[in-house]
Amino acid sequence: MIGDCNVCYDEACGSGFCFDDVRKEFDWYTTGKVNIGYEAIDRHAKSWRKNKVALYWEGADGSDRKYTFQEFKIRTDKFANVLRKAGVKKGDRIFVYLPRIPELYASAISIAKLGAIFAPLFGGFRAEAVRDRINDAEACMVITTPEMKRLGIDPIRKDIPSVKTVVLCNIPRNYDLEPGDLSYDAEMIYASEEFEPEWCDLEDPVIMHYTSGTTGKSKGVVHVHNAMIGHYITTKWVQDLRDDDVYWCTADPGWVTGTSYGIFGPWLNGASQVVYAGRFSPEAWYWIIDKYKVTVWYTAPTALRMLMKGGEDVVKKYHLDSLRYITSVGEPLNPEVIRWGMRVYGLPIHENYWMTETGCNVIANFYGMPLKIGSMGKPFPGIEAAVIDDKGKVLPPGVPGNIAIKPGWPSMMRSIWNNPAKYNEYFRISGWYITGDSAFMDADGYFWFTGRIDDVIKTSGERVGPFEVESALLEHPAVAEAGVIGKPDPLYGNVIKAFISLKPGYDGTEELKREISESVKKSLAAHAFPREIEFKASLPKTRSGKIMRRVLKAMELGQPLGDLATLDDE
Ligand code: WT7
Repeated sequence: MIGDCNVCYDEACGSGFCFDDVRKEFDWYTTGKVNIGYEAIDRHAKSWRKNKVALYWEGADGSDRKYTFQEFKIRTDKFANVLRKAGVKKGDRIFVYLPRIPELYASAISIAKLGAIFAPLFGGFRAEAVRDRINDAEACMVITTPEMKRLGIDPIRKDIPSVKTVVLCNIPRNYDLEPGDLSYDAEMIYASEEFEPEWCDLEDPVIMHYTSGTTGKSKGVVHVHNAMIGHYITTKWVQDLRDDDVYWCTADPGWVTGTSYGIFGPWLNGASQVVYAGRFSPEAWYWIIDKYKVTVWYTAPTALRMLMKGGEDVVKKYHLDSLRYITSVGEPLNPEVIRWGMRVYGLPIHENYWMTETGCNVIANFYGMPLKIGSMGKPFPGIEAAVIDDKGKVLPPGVPGNIAIKPGWPSMMRSIWNNPAKYNEYFRISGWYITGDSAFMDADGYFWFTGRIDDVIKTSGERVGPFEVESALLEHPAVAEAGVIGKPDPLYGNVIKAFISLKPGYDGTEELKREISESVKKSLAAHAFPREIEFKASLPKTRSGKIMRRVLKAMELGQPLGDLATLDDE
């Protein structure tokens, strides 16, 4: 059974590693009472870590706050009471559509403590994307701010009938709440501090991330309380997290990295973590490291490339010598960035590999192992990974194929919300979990990424489904057909490029390109709009009328077009 917590991987991996030793870290091992929110915060509030800082929060406007584990326990107990009073029950899906303010982090823990399902929604998403995700999950509540409500909820408020309550954080004075909506701050004043968590089964769902594939709309990837084992041990071992560290994961919890490693992983370890709500700039980021004396830093290739572009003079203005361990994930990390980091930060950057579905790192250059620059590393102890062909044959070293993982570890997804067929598709080849990526393994067991095998686009490390962008493009009155691809880019990894054929009567002007691009930004997402548009008289299609993105991509890159047997001649 997938996710059977009684599986011990000891013999399979030969590492001497046993999940049982990890389980003993948690209170439920002795009490039998399971809740990931309790284990992340309350357990420490009851221990010597009580007065240790759980969260150092730095706002976008220069304000800052900090909360100890004890303070955060009280805060999340109170908010859980607010939610309970508003009718939230075990298993309910709650969307959290917030910027990186403390309420986002409190929501995650409070929702978990109620046994409900925390569904974070990246702040860049706009109305159509918000609507589709909420409706798929049939969520009963959204937690947001007035500004984001205006952008993402108000335009579709009548199209999300399952949502009974909108909770608003940081409302300005004289703000008119709509009937049924709640003010976070007002409710918190009177909320009780007495709270007993909802005790759950290890296999009860608790986190749901919407993510994109090649076809169809975004899908809800479901994780269970048992995922805490993976969050805990990979944060500890991949990143060498220790009790005196100050940890900073730069990812937004709208993406899985920001949840597994920006909420649960570090707190399950009792670590002090930094959250910076402001925008990226080399100055701002170095200033954060300097101000909080960050020691362990988890970031992404696009950010590192931008820091490299920012140059060395900026680095010299700050004290970065607190840093002792750097990791990166999301897309391939260029060897020259690692060499640059080695020179200016004096530290190697450890690349690792995983995805929304796996819930935690599966392949990594983890602490203590010899680093191979340009490689993603080796399977984490307890993870069985291989490179296989399309028939399920395990390929020898040096031969590229599908990165595949044997199902059955604690933080692996347990379902796709409401869509068992999509879930089963992942296991289509001999029961292996198929990642959608290709790589080869070398003779030492290190994995080397070679590319994605599907049409999913990685832009700035963010995962974008071409189908959603194409659907948004088709909403524009001028667009007859659209095909969307990722075009390699030195800074962003890829940029989104759209090929469009126009309806009769429209001129393919630069002005129209801008207008179409803006319309996607407004309706779908601020991060998933096409930066490049090319008008074409017609698009390559199969005889059944499906646009062949593969052919568009090959044409764009000047590569051989491959098998065109299914192409419609016209
Ligand atoms: C996809 C998953 C990884 C958590 C955050 C993103 C790509 C991830 C690497 C790497 C090359 C990588 C893969 C993967 N990816 N790490 N080290 N080298 N590509 O999670 O949004 O689900 O994206 O990110 O294509 O499948 P995600």
